[in-house]
Amino acid sequence: MSSFYLTTPIYYASGEPHIGHAYTTILADVIARYRRRAGRDVLFLTGTDEHGQKIQEAAAAQGMSPLELCDLMAGRFEAAWAELGISHDRFIRTTEAEHRAVVTALLERLRDNGHIYEAEYAGWYSVGQERYFTEKEIGPDRVDPIAGEPVERIREKNWFFRMSLFQERLVRHIEDYPHWIVPATRRNEVLGFLNQPLADLSISRPRSRINWGIPLPWDDAQVCYVWVDALTNYVTASGAIDPAAPKEERGFGDPRPARWPADVHLIGKDILTTHAVYWPTLLMGADLRLPRKILAHGWWVVGDTKMSKSLGNVVDPLDLRERFGTDAVRWYLMREMPTGQDASYTPDRFLTRYDQLANILGNLVHRTLSMVKRYRGGIVPGGSADGLARETEEALEAYHEGLGGYRLHEGFAAAMSLARRANGFVESQEPWALARDPNRSGELDRTLATLVRTLAVLAAMFEPVVPAKARELATRSGLDGVPRFAELRTLEVGELAVTPGTPLFPRVEARPGSFG
Ligand code: MSP
Repeated sequence: MSSFYLTTPIYYASGEPHIGHAYTTILADVIARYRRRAGRDVLFLTGTDEHGQKIQEAAAAQGMSPLELCDLMAGRFEAAWAELGISHDRFIRTTEAEHRAVVTALLERLRDNGHIYEAEYAGWYSVGQERYFTEKEIGPDRVDPIAGEPVERIREKNWFFRMSLFQERLVRHIEDYPHWIVPATRRNEVLGFLNQPLADLSISRPRSRINWGIPLPWDDAQVCYVWVDALTNYVTASGAIDPAAPKEERGFGDPRPARWPADVHLIGKDILTTHAVYWPTLLMGADLRLPRKILAHGWWVVGDTKMSKSLGNVVDPLDLRERFGTDAVRWYLMREMPTGQDASYTPDRFLTRYDQLANILGNLVHRTLSMVKRYRGGIVPGGSADGLARETEEALEAYHEGLGGYRLHEGFAAAMSLARRANGFVESQEPWALARDPNRSGELDRTLATLVRTLAVLAAMFEPVVPAKARELATRSGLDGVPRFAELRTLEVGELAVTPGTPLFPRVEARPGSFG
């Protein structure tokens, strides 16, 4: 079975999980579930980013040690992911001993390769973004260009990585692989950034200022810059590096069959530069392969501003969950935001998307299973289930194109359109009329079998996004779990015992106005 490795950003352990984190993590979960259903051996990684000035300051403000705060917050993230049905295989924390050892090994490798030097540095630092910005980027107001928060002037001795050395190679890579950074707007943004000479990257901070980090192996007075530490998590979890081995056998420069490189790094557009410039050049410097793809999605915005905790405009996804269920929230987030673009949350759009689930998919399930019960005693008739063949084929093709090509909204639109066509099939076949005519009993059998077969296909298509509901749909249809895509072709539905039950997506009377 071929493997598939995907990652989310690791989230700062200084704040509570919110809808922004939830979006990326659900997006990753949907892709992971899709690939598993398609037969891939998936490694799905998420976790928390626990070192650096931001965490140190947040802990101090709350009268806790940094590790106490991180323990608390890592627990919150894990609990939030459990509630949202996230199926990650590994939750990494950058304070883990294994990770610290891999970061140390990476730093040693960079230094042994001659890419590290020491220098005095003066620049504008943003604690919120944990990085330096240029004069041009901060503008006359001296705020970071991402969150608009004030930056601080810092002058100190740092160790540097010769990032500039890899500029040309990086540009060539981006040009040679047009789909390496998607969507294209983000690729162009990175190419634009690389039009200017690339500066070297400061990779350390003096301990006198920040103590909370991984010490440099050759200079105990400095800790590793938090972004270098954080990005390395992707390699740590892949198992490609064995930090305990002698230097030459640690796995750098070695194309051995570990999980590295990642198939896709999912990120928000706010952390594009760190992932598409810092990270690949660090990997080049350490003789490691580059990730196969970087997918930068847009922001959930309210009006013109990014939804964020500090702006106080955060919609807590867990609030929506209580009223509509986890799967409805997942569906909304995936179906509403065109993958890669910004989208704004509105209660009306949420309801519209929920109504699709209830009135199209839910309705199809309910009427199909009820008719099997009413007309055939709850047992799906054997024989031909060959209706809707072309429609199913077309929908599956568009679906795989959408999900495989990271345009998830298009894939799920195709899945919903199959459910819509199946409802149309019910109306055109008029099973209630067939049931009254003893001469047309074969036609009724074929109609019901076709519909149940379509439900099985829909269970597979919808499972990545609404996993609990899809399992329920499969169970009610008498199936032994949600089928894998490869099983659909030969799937037999005759003799399955169905149970209609209550509506899969109940009507929710309350308007969701209060959660905007
Ligand atoms: N710790 C760094 C990432 C290190 S990865 C090696 C970090 N953490 S974060 O907690 O700030 O999370 C940022 C990520 O959260 C974004 O890249 C994005 O995936 C997600 N989002 C945060 N707010 C968001 C929205 N309003 N909308 C969509 N996603 C957003 O940066």
